[in-house]
Amino acid sequence: MLTDPAKLQDNLIRLIASDWMLVTAGTPEKFNTMTANWGGMGYLWNKNVVFVFVRPERYTYEFIEDTEGFTLTFFDEKYRDALNLCGVKSGRNCDKIAETGLTPYFTQSGYPAFAEARIVLECRKLYAMQLERDNFLDDEPLNTHYRSKGGLHKVYIAEIERAWGSST
Ligand SMILES: Cc1cc2nc3c(=O)[nH]c(=O)nc-3n(C[C@H](O)[C@H](O)[C@H](O)COP(=O)(O)O)c2cc1C
Repeated sequence: MLTDPAKLQDNLIRLIASDWMLVTAGTPEKFNTMTANWGGMGYLWNKNVVFVFVRPERYTYEFIEDTEGFTLTFFDEKYRDALNLCGVKSGRNCDKIAETGLTPYFTQSGYPAFAEARIVLECRKLYAMQLERDNFLDDEPLNTHYRSKGGLHKVYIAEIERAWGSST
């Protein structure tokens, strides 16, 4: 059911941190999805927004960079195996859609989403920002999460254009 994102029933921290989400971007010809549990939702520039953190080495990153927007999808617990798979395997080396059995479709704005999701957020990019080592005010996250090789995350702030799910 199409809904007002401000009326989603779920606790948003639990939804992202514990339930996890799929970040999916691309075109009907080629798209990719990955699991994420860093990010948030809120209100910025008088808009309902999401912000997600994506490492540049993810295959999904290329699709987010190349298109106007992406979807965030949230699932019932029975899809945990699918989310686990999308969080350890890369679409560069496998067909995640075939392996998970998820059913892709394209939203009104043409972004890929999944029929099995209980919440779908259609998100249009507004701002992108590369995290910088020098900007950390506390070294703990830097030392914990960016000690090994690999890029710092890029943050995407995106407007929620449409949301589907159960509302209050
Ligand atoms: C629970 C969980 C949460 C994750 N959260 C993020 C995240 O917020 N940002 C990120 O860049 N990668 C995150 N990952 C890692 C990606 O999902 C993983 O590297 C994936 O294989 C990337 O797939 P791709 O190369 O097909 O894009 C997470 C993985 C798991 C299992």
